[in-house]
This record gives sequence, structure tokens and C-alpha cells, in this order.
Amino acid sequence: LTRIIGRGNSLGDALEKVSMPMRDPRDAALARELCQGTARWYPRIEALSRALLRTPLRHKDLDIHALLCIGLYQLIYLRIPPHASIHATVQAARELGKPWAVRLLNGVLRSFQRRSETLLEGVDRSPSARLAHPEWLLQALRDAWPTRWQAVVAANNARAPMSLRVNRRRIERGEYLRTLQAHGIDAEGPSWAEDGILLKRPVGIEGLPGFAEGLVSVQDCAAQLAAGLLDPQPGDRVLDACAAPGGKTGHLLEIQPEIRQLWAMDSDEARLERLRDNLHRLRLEARVICADAAEPATWWDGTPFERILLDAPCSGTGVIRRHPDIKLLRRATDIPALAARQDRMLQALWPLLAPHGTLLYATCSVLSEENEMRIAKFLASHDDAAPHLPEVEGVVAGKVGVQILPGSLGRDGFYYSRLYKRA
Ligand SMILES: C[S@@+](CC[C@H](N)C(=O)[O-])C[C@H]1O[C@@H](n2cnc3c(N)ncnc32)[C@H](O)[C@@H]1O
Repeated sequence: LTRIIGRGNSLGDALEKVSMPMRDPRDAALARELCQGTARWYPRIEALSRALLRTPLRHKDLDIHALLCIGLYQLIYLRIPPHASIHATVQAARELGKPWAVRLLNGVLRSFQRRSETLLEGVDRSPSARLAHPEWLLQALRDAWPTRWQAVVAANNARAPMSLRVNRRRIERGEYLRTLQAHGIDAEGPSWAEDGILLKRPVGIEGLPGFAEGLVSVQDCAAQLAAGLLDPQPGDRVLDACAAPGGKTGHLLEIQPEIRQLWAMDSDEARLERLRDNLHRLRLEARVICADAAEPATWWDGTPFERILLDAPCSGTGVIRRHPDIKLLRRATDIPALAARQDRMLQALWPLLAPHGTLLYATCSVLSEENEMRIAKFLASHDDAAPHLPEVEGVVAGKVGVQILPGSLGRDGFYYSRLYKRA
């Protein structure tokens, strides 16, 4: 948490560094739960910590602030016996070499226990604290979804279910479902995701039969729509412009074994390493390129692509339930900066698309500034582009694309716009 709050690291990166040395997987799971949960409720917990402390902690004691928040999270949201939570929190301060904080944490957490109802009532007067969203984000969601923002907020605060994608090149969904059942794992195959499987309860990947052999991947059913919407044909050259860690790259190759060539590009080499691992596990091949998608002059060979997937970098406001650290990391000012980046990528990649080709623009954002507004602006200056609205279940149809809101049919929030190139 200190890494997230203080250094702007993502929760995923921070957990990778911290949980690796934990030998017992149960400890790693608890560490994950404590960090994820605290991040999910941080705007509320942080308001509470301010109400509880007479003088705020100094920046160099961010670790103690994080401990206090984790302690409060356990007391409010988990069934861990309170005395155990308080004891562990206080003990952690000792282990961090800050014995002075022992009395403080002990006193503050016990004070919360005594007055929890009144304190929570007080902080909950602020919608930002009550709904556990930063003020700017709450406002952005209200503006974007005047009649639906409350459902979006509720979905953001819920735990995300675990979904799988069956590698149809290797096994049929029905057969994999039977294999899961034989392993005592409850699951179903929803009608709206051809390769998708929803698990009743999350399972560690090591517990998934055939995972290491590439029979399945972990992927939300909203993200699974991309490959089918792009619909690559035999002989196509396909560009996956923002590909890492390769979730959609793998699916494209799984659904169309006769793709002539797939270029999997990303500007982040470390993330591309994960893409290579994923493709290797799935026994699939792509041409992996580390480059800036917005600068084709540096990497394009001049031969057009029949299909382009632009899964653009975005605010991630559709996947907050999976990445609650977004609440701590994102700022209002990020949105115009991301929109400018998205514009540049769209503009740069469009000339690479062959006549009659399809470009699929995707984000995991629920904000129009990154979705409908980007495509509308693009269309205004490109006569050769025509939107083909995808037919997808459980979406809000816009003028030029479709929005899946988080929680709809259990899925993540996603936006898709499919652009066809006139000859
Ligand atoms: C939404 S993620 C892609 C997820 C991926 N398509 C999947 O399904 O697994 C966006 C990706 O864009 C990459 N990216 C950001 N700016 C880029 C650029 N200028 N050129 C290429 N990739 C970029 C990021 O490194 C990140 O991996």
C-alpha cells in the first residue's frame, strides 16, 4: 500500500514484489485480500483515519498510515476477530522498526472500535467516503451515466468474479466444463461468451486443470468479445497494436488458426515478456514487436493489415472492481492526457488498414471522453471510415460504439467501436 500511495506503483506490481517471498500461499492470499480490500474502500477508510487522528502522520510515516488503513479495513469489512487484527497491526509496526507507533495504532484502532457507529455516520455524510470513490471520479461517473452511475459505483465496489477462456484449438468448452466438474470446481458456460466460463468461486491458476498446458486462460467475458468482433479471416494480416500481456492476442489466434501473420506490438518490454510466456503456454505464435504504435514510420513495412485491434491505454474505469488501486492512482487530469494519446494512436494506425479492412477500438473505460467522443472526433476527419455497431448482449448502444458497464452479465466494463474502411 505504501508503494501505491507513495510511489504510484500499481497494486499488481506491488503485490508481485511483496508476496513472492511468502512461502505459504495462504499468507500471499491474505496479503492480496488486505491490499485489494483496503484499496477498494480507501476513500472511506482514509476519511476515517483523518477523523481519528488528532495530528496527521508525516509523509515519512506513510507505512504507519498504511497499517492504520489495513487495520481499519479488517475491523470494518472482515470477519477476522478484532483483537487479532489489532494485535497483528501493532506487531507490524514493531517489525517496521517503529515501536513509537505501537501505542498510537493500538489507541486509534480501539477508539474506532468504541465509537465505530458514530464515526462511520460522520464520514459517510460525504458521498465520496460513503461510496468509496474519489470526488472527481464520482462526478465523472455521474456526468457520463446520469441514470446508471449508482449501479456502476456498486459494481466497482464489488469483488470481480473469475472467468476463463477455453482455448478452442485444444479443447471444447463442454469438455473442459466436465473436467472442471470432475475436479470439484463449480462453473458454467454463459451463452453470451462462446469460449467463456464463469467460475462460482475463484481458484488459483495452479488449481485449474490443464492451465500450464494452455487449455485455458484467465480472461473476463467482456474482454473475450474483442476477437469475435474483429473477426479475422483466413489469410489476414492482423495487427494487435497494444497487445501485452496478450490476452486478446491469444484469443485471436485461437479463433482463427489461418491468420497469415499476427503482429503483437507493445511499447512495454516487460509486459511483452508476459505476452511471450502466455503465447508459449498456449502454443501459439506471433511476431512480437516492442515499439510505439503511434509511430508506424519506425516499424511498419508498408504492407497493409486487414484487421487492426487498438486496445488503447485508458483510465481503466471499467475494471475498478479488479484493480481497485485505480481509485488511488488516477487523477482527473489523466483523462484529457489519455484522450490525446488515444487520438494519436487512432490517427497513426488508420492508414495501415487495408481497404475493406476493420479496425476495432477497445478500452476498459466507461468514460465517453475515451470512448464515443474519441471515435466521433476521428470520424469527423475521416470520410473513409464507417462505424459498424457490434451486436452484443447486455450493452448500452451509443452512436458509434457499444458500452458494457461493469457488472452487466457479470462482466467488466468495456467499450468497443468497430470501424470499417471504405475502398
Ligand atoms: C489495455 S492494455 C492492453 C491489453 C492487451 N490487449 C490484452 O488483452 O492483454 C494497453 C497496452 O498498451 C500499451 N501501450 C501504451 N502506449 C503504447 C504505445 N504508444 N504503443 C504501443 N503500446 C502501448 C501498454 O503497455 C499496455 O500494455
